[in-house]
Amino acid sequence: MSIYGEPLYYEIAFSFINPSRQINLFEKFIKKYSKVKPVSFLDIGCGPSPQLLELAKRGYKCTGLDLCPNMLKYLTLKAKETGLKIETKKADFTNFTVKEPFDFTMMMMGTIGYIDSTVKLISHLKSVAKALKPGGLYLIENFRTVRSKEHFFSPQTWMIKRKNILIRVFYKIDIKDSVNGLETETILLEVEDHGKKHLFKQKADIKIFSPIEFFEAIKITESFEFLGWFNRETLRSTERPKIGNYTLLRRKYE
Ligand SMILES: C[S@@+](CC[C@H](N)C(=O)[O-])C[C@H]1O[C@@H](n2cnc3c(N)ncnc32)[C@H](O)[C@@H]1O
Repeated sequence: MSIYGEPLYYEIAFSFINPSRQINLFEKFIKKYSKVKPVSFLDIGCGPSPQLLELAKRGYKCTGLDLCPNMLKYLTLKAKETGLKIETKKADFTNFTVKEPFDFTMMMMGTIGYIDSTVKLISHLKSVAKALKPGGLYLIENFRTVRSKEHFFSPQTWMIKRKNILIRVFYKIDIKDSVNGLETETILLEVEDHGKKHLFKQKADIKIFSPIEFFEAIKITESFEFLGWFNRETLRSTERPKIGNYTLLRRKYE
């Protein structure tokens, strides 16, 4: 089974983030750039979404969209355990519809890379445009782009423990097809759960869009204003998208 089929282990492996600080920053982005007062949030490719749990705690209406049923079940359960309510929707984020548009949409943790062609990116942006109210924001975390000068290809490894579960994570990216900007992402989890060992490995193609390709896709959809690439944890925009950037789009009025 893929790592995304193991929500608890995935959540622990990537639990180095601080959702409360992230949401504080999102609220600052909203104050500065959103033209709608946000009530409803959609997390696209939500996984176990600690961000939606934090938003729900703050009183917002939250929905998580993912293709993986285990992730959605886990998120529903976690919300229930803490007395919160989070709606879920099983759908492919390259082509989806929602009943009512949201005030704020987001895609976290480099998930954008799983959109592996420009055609799919355009279809994704069209879906998000229909799922977002005019004036609302679409925040993309870690837009993946060509990063020749950064240590993008160095393998990473880390270890994380929660109670009786210890996880060693190996993460690497290899070039697959540099003409089409395709890379192979490998994630390996070595899990020790109450003394029992398990190994999970996942390989996936990810697409590295150049900023020009991204702008072209935005232009074709005719639905978004590009507000900038922002540094993690600040409201400062940068000239080019750095690792861990927040990319901010605003839904245009028709
Ligand atoms: C990198 S994880 C991010 C999870 C979570 N948002 C986070 O920040 O940790 C990517 C998520 O996207 C989901 N996913 C991958 N491809 C998808 C697709 N085509 N449609 C919907 N969800 C997808 C996976 O199941 C997984 O939960």
